[in-house]
Amino acid sequence: MNRGQLLYEGKAKSVYLSDTPDELIVAFRDDITAFDGQKKDSLAGKGGYNARISAFFFTYLEEKGIPTHFMGMIDDHTMAVKRLNMIPLEVIVRNRAAGSIVRRYPFREGQTFDTPLIVMDYKDDSRHDPMINDDIIIALGLLSRDEIQHVRDLALAVNRHLKELFRARGLDLVDFKIEFGRFGDTILLGDEISMDSMRLWDVKTGASLDKDVYRYDKGDVLSAYAKVVDMMIPKEFGGVQ
Ligand code: ATP
Ligand code: TYD
Repeated sequence: MNRGQLLYEGKAKSVYLSDTPDELIVAFRDDITAFDGQKKDSLAGKGGYNARISAFFFTYLEEKGIPTHFMGMIDDHTMAVKRLNMIPLEVIVRNRAAGSIVRRYPFREGQTFDTPLIVMDYKDDSRHDPMINDDIIIALGLLSRDEIQHVRDLALAVNRHLKELFRARGLDLVDFKIEFGRFGDTILLGDEISMDSMRLWDVKTGASLDKDVYRYDKGDVLSAYAKVVDMMIPKEFGGVQ
């Protein structure tokens, strides 16, 4: 597959056309940002870690019956995906309270939710991604009520599978963000699933192994990402080298 024209350059990934109209090439860059892009750095190797873990999770979730855009790796920081018409929603699943939900509501940092919470933000940097609800999603024409339920079911299934996988390796999946898009009549899981878009705590020590290490200067973020890749991806996983 050949890389065509640059279609979109986001904060951490560049999206290119390919020689097939309904397929895209997504390159994970080494850029890392936080706080609406106010904090920014480039860390050599970071893009590769996120690409490899995303490829691994997409492959795993496909095996569990969750449809994704992932087609395969082109090199260690680039993947081939189905071209989606992205639904501009950040679908956030929370198992424990951390981050914005603790700042906005009287939850205790780290408290476990009996049932995972789903929070959706409207993806629009110029509006600072405001939280959205079902009625607004429908009024904006983003999803029908049935589709909202379908997206929620998919998000909860992703959560169940990832949580179990992490738990078996001594990591606690606190929360994560995913994005969906339309491919013809179907809704597929798109974008990425990586340490940039989740909170992971070491079960024994409580240490963060995710972008919070960068956000809050908790240590060496590259070592944290490398550790997760090492703990999660079996050596025999064929999707990446
Ligand atoms: P944010 O960091 O807030 O998610 P961004 O746009 O800066 O936003 P990047 O990850 O740098 O994020 O850019 C990747 C872009 O590609 C995102 O806008 C994402 O929605 C889009 N995208 C991901 N997967 C696909 C796909 N299969 N088809 C089309 N677009 C996709
Ligand atoms: P959240 O606590 O809402 O944001 P903040 O990082 O400002 O405290 O984030 C919940 C989870 O979703 C966290 O793991 C980061 C991820 N996330 C993203 O990857 N991108 C986003 O735009 C948002 C809002 C969250």
